[in-house]
This record gives sequence, C-alpha cells and structure tokens, in this order.
Amino acid sequence: DKRGRLVIAVDGPAASGKGTLARRLAAHYGLPYLDTGLLYRMVAKAVLDAGHDIQDADAAAAIVASFDEAAFPEDSLRGREIGEAASVVAAMPAVRSGLIARQRRFAGQAGGAVLDGRDIGTVICPEARAKLFVTATPEVRAARRHRELTARGEPATFEGILADIRRRDARDSGRSDAPLKLAEDAVLLDTSALTIEEAAAAAIGIVDARRANP
Ligand code: DC
Repeated sequence: DKRGRLVIAVDGPAASGKGTLARRLAAHYGLPYLDTGLLYRMVAKAVLDAGHDIQDADAAAAIVASFDEAAFPEDSLRGREIGEAASVVAAMPAVRSGLIARQRRFAGQAGGAVLDGRDIGTVICPEARAKLFVTATPEVRAARRHRELTARGEPATFEGILADIRRRDARDSGRSDAPLKLAEDAVLLDTSALTIEEAAAAAIGIVDARRANP
C-alpha cells in the first residue's frame, strides 16, 4: 500500500502448490506467512471433536467466535478427512465472516504479509500489492496430494484423491459466499508442468513486476 507495505495474496484450489509458493515468497521477501486454510481446518476439527455434525452451522458459528489457534497442532489438521470437513464449514457465511478479522489483522502487520487461501485477493485483501492465482490440472494436484498423504502414512488411492479434489473444487468454487475465483487483477500461474524451483522463480517474477509497476 501507500506506506510501502508488501501484501501478497496467493489463491488457488486444493493441492495447486499455493502453500509451497506462498512459503517461498514469504522467505524471499522476509514477510510473515499465514495459511488461511488452517483456520477453516481448525474450525472443522473443533466441530468434530465436540461431537457435532459437520453440517451443524450453529455449532460452527459458536466455535468460530471463540476458538484458540494455539490449541491445534498443525499435524492434526493436515489429514484428508479434515480437509473435506473444512470445505464444508468454509461454505457457511457465519464461519467465513467470523474469520475475516483474524486474517486482516495478520495482513495488517507493519512490513506486510503473505496469505494463501481461496478468497485472499477477492475478499480478505482486495488491496494486496500482488495477487497470484495458482492452479494445476486436477490430475497433477491429485498426484501431488497422493505423494503427500502417502508420506504421512495415510492410506489413499490416486483415484480416491482425484474424486476428493473434484468434489472440493466444485464446493469451493460453487458456494455463494466468497467462492474461489480469479481476482480481476490477479496473475494466473499454472504449475502443472513446472518444478517447485521453476514455479517459485515465476512467482517471484510476478511479485517483482507488481512492485516495479504498482
Ligand atoms: O487450502 P486448504 O486445503 O487447507 O483449505 C481447506 C478448505 O478451507 C478448502 O476446501 C476451502 C477452505 N478455504 C476457504 O474457503 N477459504 C480460504 N481462504 C482458505 C481455505
């Protein structure tokens, strides 16, 4: 913004590589990083841990008003079941609105910040200096997620994960409140055929171009 803060918004579908790229950008520019998907995963886990049905919007709204981020070790949030449940609570307007202030506070830090999610460039930080929309084909994303889950020791088949990804894409893009979509001023980065190094170099190039020409 006008005070020279660098806010970078990184959006995209599940397993597109946006988390890896956002982390790389944060390290490169020396900025704090927030994975906003973890917030939705925390709400989902808290709903399930309390014994509520994942579709219970009143329970989710009550949890979002009071949950403590420190109570959720990241490793307990990365599983397949929690990702699916997060996508369900993320479609609830009370959950989304209840998480806005935390995210904007993070983005408001003195030097700026990198945030990744689905609606960072469109809703949370519409004023971000640089906006990336990271994508890859469903098959490439399923293969990446399959490797990730296998490494965690979670049993999963490629076909099952591909079906998960298609279902989550439809839910995240089809919901009426803050659906996943390309912000008007976002730059599309398709990582399907890129290595992590190539994608990181491209992402830095995009941000540098925005800084030179705000
Ligand atoms: O990025 P992820 O897979 O950790 O996100 C989990 C779910 O949370 C995803 O299906 C959609 C939702 N989400 C969202 O709606 N908005 C965000 N800014 C981040 C995640």
